[in-house]
Formats: sequence, structure tokens, C-alpha cells
Amino acid sequence: MKPLSATLALTFAALVGASAALADDAPSEGARLAFEGADGIAACSSCHALNGRGNPQTKGPALAGLDAAYLGKQLRDYRAGTRVHESMDPIGKVITDAQIDAVSEHYAAMIGAPASKQPASPEEMALGKRLAERGAWDREVPACEQCHAPGGLGFGQHFPRLAGQHAFYLEGQLEAWRSGVRKNDHDELMKTVAERLSAKEIAAVSAYYATLDPNPPAQAGAEETAEAAPTEEPAAPTSATQGGAS
Ligand code: HEC
Ligand code: HEC
Repeated sequence: MKPLSATLALTFAALVGASAALADDAPSEGARLAFEGADGIAACSSCHALNGRGNPQTKGPALAGLDAAYLGKQLRDYRAGTRVHESMDPIGKVITDAQIDAVSEHYAAMIGAPASKQPASPEEMALGKRLAERGAWDREVPACEQCHAPGGLGFGQHFPRLAGQHAFYLEGQLEAWRSGVRKNDHDELMKTVAERLSAKEIAAVSAYYATLDPNPPAQAGAEETAEAAPTEEPAAPTSATQGGAS
């Protein structure tokens, strides 16, 4: 009789081989939608970029690394017509629940990066940071961080990440809430915030968040360089799951 460990090793090898083969032959449904589109659905990457980090030319926001349930809610809102935009409405008309789930998982698994490496003027950065971390209590504007988490990293499915998002998009959304074009927020949480901000404050807080690293500190810079790594322990095995989906 073969020792148990050898049997296990063989089984393991077979399983790994099988899943690798599957991954090679069949790109996930989410990846197919993102890169190729489907009937009536243009490839998401044509506007949101191949790396999912958005594209100022097409006005597509960054989607990489945003919470999957948040992305799913937005797609369902375009479908229901509670959020409207000429670029996303045609997709909303035809996209199915299964496609929404698949493509949301796909983008949630991608890794984001700061949209802007160029800080705004020191005054603008200081104003943006102050709103983000302390708000403007004289006008009852809470700190953005209270809902969007420290560093704008986002919290769960309801409070999206702002860190690293393009300034044009953040600014556009705040203006859209202020003017009533976007109104898919629960209890008007964002409308209440946006309508109390001046145009100058909106520009400043948007420019500020665009420069922040969207990755939680533990993985910051992991993709670009290994700069932060040398003195640290080798990555734990769980980090292998990071790039796994897609
Ligand atoms: C023709 C260009 C275009 C295509 C194609 C496109 N998008 Fe978009 N997408 C946009 C624009 C522009 C916005 C911002 C719309 C707004 O202001 O509401 C957007 C917004 C979004 C948002 C909201 C993001 C947020 O942070 O709230 C999601 C989610 C999204 N798109 C997913 C997709 C997916 C998934 C696909 C492919 C199935 C796709 N988009 C294809 C242009 C596009
Ligand atoms: C009371 C909680 C709360 C506070 C405070 C708050 N937000 Fe939000 N914000 C939300 C919620 C909830 C959403 C998601 C709405 C939805 O589901 O579409 C959101 C969404 C956004 C979005 C859209 C992101 C995207 O990907 O489309 C932007 C931009 C934004 N907030 C900016 C800010 C800024 C800047 C501040 C501080 C000045 C701020 N928020 C403070 C609750 C809050």
C-alpha cells in the first residue's frame, strides 16, 4: 500500500493541474465582459481601461479594487434607472444579474493605484485633507472619513473607496449630487454632504483623494516595486489569493 502522504500529494497535484487547465481554457465570465463585452454590452475596458484604473479621455472612473457589492449596486442602479449616465444606461438596459455579479467580482479583484501622482497646490491639498479628516463643522459637514474610512479606503459595500479615484470623477459625482442628477444614495447621505460644500472645496477634496494610495497599507506598492518588503517577513500564504480571481 502507498503511504498516505504520497496519495495526498498525487491528489493535490491532480487538483492543481485541473484548476490550472480550467483557468487557461476558459477566461471567467467577468473577464470576458470586461475585455470583450457581450451582446449589447461594449467591453468595459474600452472606457475603464485594461487595468481597470479608469481613463480621463473616456470619462470612465477607476473600478479596480472597489468593493464587489458596491459595484454591483451601482450596476443595478443604472439598470433600474435610479442612477443615470449616457455611457452606462445602454449597458444597464441589457445586463443580467449573473453578468453583474461576475464583472463586479472581476473588477474587485484587480489592484488599483493612485490616479494622480501630482499633488495639487499646497493650499488645495491642505483644504482637501482638512475636509477629509475633520469636515467643516461650522456647516455641519462631517469628515468624509467618518463614512469612507481613514485614508478614504472605503468601508464594506455601502461606503465606497475614494482613495486613488480620478479627481474629474469625484468632482463630477459631488456636483451631480449637489444638482440632483445623482440620487441613488441611501437616506440622501451624500446629497446632504455635497450640497453644503462650495465648488472650491469640491475641487480640493477631489484633488486630494486622487493622490492617495487605494491599497490598504499592508499591500501598498506591492505591485509596482518591492520597496517596502526587504525588512519584512516573506508574504503569508494568504497573499496568493490576491491576484487569483480574474
Ligand atoms: C462608453 C464608455 C463606458 C463603457 C463601455 C462602460 N462604462 Fe462604466 N462608466 C462609464 C462612465 C463615463 C461612468 C461614470 C458615470 C456616472 O457619472 O454616473 C461609468 C461608471 C461605472 C460604474 C460606477 C462606478 C462607481 O464608482 O460608482 C460602474 C460600476 C461601471 N461603470 C461599470 C462598468 C462595467 C462593468 C462595464 C462593462 C460591462 C462598463 N462600466 C462599461 C463609462 C463606460
Ligand atoms: C454620512 C456618511 C457619508 C459621509 C460623511 C460622506 N459620504 Fe460620500 N458616500 C456615502 C455613501 C453611502 C455613498 C454611496 C452612495 C451609493 O450607494 O451610491 C457615498 C459615495 C460617495 C462618492 C461616489 C463614489 C463613487 O465611486 O461613485 C463620492 C465621490 C463621495 N461619496 C465623496 C465624499 C466626500 C468628498 C465626503 C466628505 C466631504 C463624503 N463623501 C462624506 C456616505 C458618506
